Amino acid sequence: MNPFDLKDYLVQRRVRIEDSLKALLNDRTVPNSRVGEAIRYSLLAGGKRLRPILCLAACEAAGGDANDALAAACALELIHTYSLIHDDLPAMDDDALRRGVATCHTKFDEATAIMAGDGMLTLAFEVLSDTWVESQNRFGPSEKIAVIHRVASAAGIRGMVEGQMRDIAAEGSALSLEDLTELHRLKTGVLIEAAVWCGGFLAGAQDHLLDELGRYGRSVGLAFQVTDDILNVAGDPEKLGKSVGTDAKRKKSTYPSLLGLSSSKTWARELVKEAIDAVSGFDHRAEPLRAIARYVADRQR
Ligand code: IPE
Ligand code: IPE
Ligand code: MG
Ligand code: MG
Repeated sequence: MNPFDLKDYLVQRRVRIEDSLKALLNDRTVPNSRVGEAIRYSLLAGGKRLRPILCLAACEAAGGDANDALAAACALELIHTYSLIHDDLPAMDDDALRRGVATCHTKFDEATAIMAGDGMLTLAFEVLSDTWVESQNRFGPSEKIAVIHRVASAAGIRGMVEGQMRDIAAEGSALSLEDLTELHRLKTGVLIEAAVWCGGFLAGAQDHLLDELGRYGRSVGLAFQVTDDILNVAGDPEKLGKSVGTDAKRKKSTYPSLLGLSSSKTWARELVKEAIDAVSGFDHRAEPLRAIARYVADRQR
C-alpha cells in the first residue's frame, strides 16, 4: 500500500470544499450586493480550510461517506471566516492583512465587514437546516437539529464568542497557564472539536467513538492555537498571509510569552501525540486524522 500522502489529500479536500463554497455563493443565495461582494472576497481569499477538512476526515475515519459531511463542513468554514473578519476589526485585533490580502474592513469598510460576518454566521445555519446538497436529504430533522445545536453552542457564548471576549479582556495582563488554556480552548478549540464531532456524528458513529474523536479534537484544537501563537513570534508573514509580532504589540497573553518558544513547541508536540493516541482504536481510515494532527504543529502557515 502506498504511504499516505497528506499534501495530496489536503489539496484534494480543499478543492472539494472550495467547489462547494463557490456553488453556495451563487447569486440567488448570496446576492451581488456590497455585502455579498464582501462575503465572496473573504471566503474565497484562500485559507487552509482546516475545520472543514477535519470534518470530512472524521466522517471517513468513522466509516462514513465524506459527501454526507459536506454541508456541515461548509457551514463550519463560513463561521470560521466570519470569526476572522470580526477578529480583524479595529475594535478587536485591528489587523490589515488576512489570507494574504487586505482585511475585509480595510478593503470595504467596518460596517460592511460587520454585516458580512453576520451574514456568514446566519448563512451557515441556513446551510445546515436546508437540503442544500443532495446528501443532506439522508438526514432527518433530529439529526440536523443535533448538528445545528452542536455548531451553535461551539460558536456562541459558551464557546468562541466567550473565548474572543476573554482574549480581548486579557490584553495587557499575564494570565495563568490554566486560564490561557481555557481561553484558547474556547476561542479556537471548541469549533475544531465541533468540526470533528459533526463528521463522526454524520457518519453515524457510536457514542464511544464520538468520545474518542472528541478527545482528538480537543488536543488538535489546542495544538493549533499554541502553534498559531508560535507562528506569530517566529513565522514568515509571506507564508502566513498575515502580520507577525502583533500579539506582543497588543500585549496578548500567549504560550510563547508565558512558556518561551521552545517549551511552547514541546507542548504543541505533546498535544499532537495525545490527539494521535485518542484515535488509536480507529483503523487505517483515520490515517488522515493522524497526519493532520502532525501537520497542525509542524505547519508554516
Ligand atoms: C486563524 O485560523 C485563526 C485562529 C483560530 C488561530 P486559521 O489558521 O485556520 O486561518 P485560515 O482559515 O487558514 O486563514
Ligand atoms: C482568532 O485568534 C480566533 C478567532 C477568530 C475565533 P487570533 O486573533 O489569535 O488569530 P489570528 O492570529 O488573528 O489569525
Ligand atoms: Mg484575536
Ligand atoms: Mg487576530
